[in-house]
Amino acid sequence: MSRIPSVVKIVEVGPRDGLQNEKGIVPAGIKIEFINRLSQTGLRTVEVTSFVNPKWIPQLADAAEVFAGIDQRPGVAYPVLVPNEKGMQRALQAGAREVSIFTAASESFNRKNINCSIAESIERFKPVMALAREHDIRVRGYISTVIGCPYEGAIEPEAVASVAERLASLGCYELSLGDTIGVGTPRKARRMLEAVAAVVPMGELAVHFHDTYGQALANIHACLELGIGVVDSSVSGLGGCPYARGATGNVATEDVLYLLTGMGIETGVDMDKLLEAGRFISDRLGREPVSKLGHVPKDSRYHAGTLSH
Ligand code: HMG
Ligand code: MG
Repeated sequence: MSRIPSVVKIVEVGPRDGLQNEKGIVPAGIKIEFINRLSQTGLRTVEVTSFVNPKWIPQLADAAEVFAGIDQRPGVAYPVLVPNEKGMQRALQAGAREVSIFTAASESFNRKNINCSIAESIERFKPVMALAREHDIRVRGYISTVIGCPYEGAIEPEAVASVAERLASLGCYELSLGDTIGVGTPRKARRMLEAVAAVVPMGELAVHFHDTYGQALANIHACLELGIGVVDSSVSGLGGCPYARGATGNVATEDVLYLLTGMGIETGVDMDKLLEAGRFISDRLGREPVSKLGHVPKDSRYHAGTLSH
């Protein structure tokens, strides 16, 4: 029997994962309008920003201003990244109701990204989780470099499963498995997901593919076949990680939506509005949208907004 779910949640990470990696600093007003546009597409989760050290990620130094400026729509979650207790305090002060903590399956990457070992990161998250419980905040966990690491090469699925177990036991409601540098292929993605799903229920997992070598959609399809129900993506393929050389953008949300719709999977996301949000941010960044769907004229019979499965 097929395990492909009939409904998939798309977690839009463009305003955070995308804009953290831009060379220039996007003004807060543009970020706010971008997030507001994404909120109107039917997406149920839009990751807004990060409360990390602004010296490390100056692109998101305006996190509090952006968070305060967005219109929060009922039914949409607006998570923010926090690396430690200080980030959690800042997120709480800003009024965040959901946060994401992040670590990696590779020691070397973790050190470059958050300046500590995996075990130390888990210790750092304990006070974050305590504050989350106190303030009734939902916590998502990210694991980076789940297939390959820019410093260590291939990562064993068992190493990912071990970190996943530790994060789940801290109390994360969902774990997002990140192919940070986009080196996965479907077979590797499947092996990794199977190993993690053996220790954390599939219903508590999400996949997060960067598209460095054009494999992200194939990887997502492989994970859908195993029953994954949550997919992270970034409108117009924005994204990357400043501490992972070679990491390009996330898989484009438009392309994920096209795939899911074509498979008869419900997402609740409106393609036309999504294309407009992608066009908006691409224009502001002075580039063409990564997704080819953004280039199909509206009057074409093959315009993505008019297609169904
Ligand atoms: P550190 O230097 O080890 O921190 O950085 P520290 O605790 O030693 O503190 C040093 C200074 O930072 C102090 O200030 C702290 O107050 C300040 P000083 O006394 O020097 O003036 N500080 C902070 N300031 C503001 N907000 C904070 C904060 N924490 C400490 N939260 C730290 C450790 C984790 C803070 C740093 O390494 C950091 O901010 N890293 C963030 C890196 C990052 O954001 N990477 C990208 C996100 S991860 C990603 O993209 C992957 C993902 O998409 C999934 C995937 O694709 O794989 C999620
Ligand atoms: Mg990422």
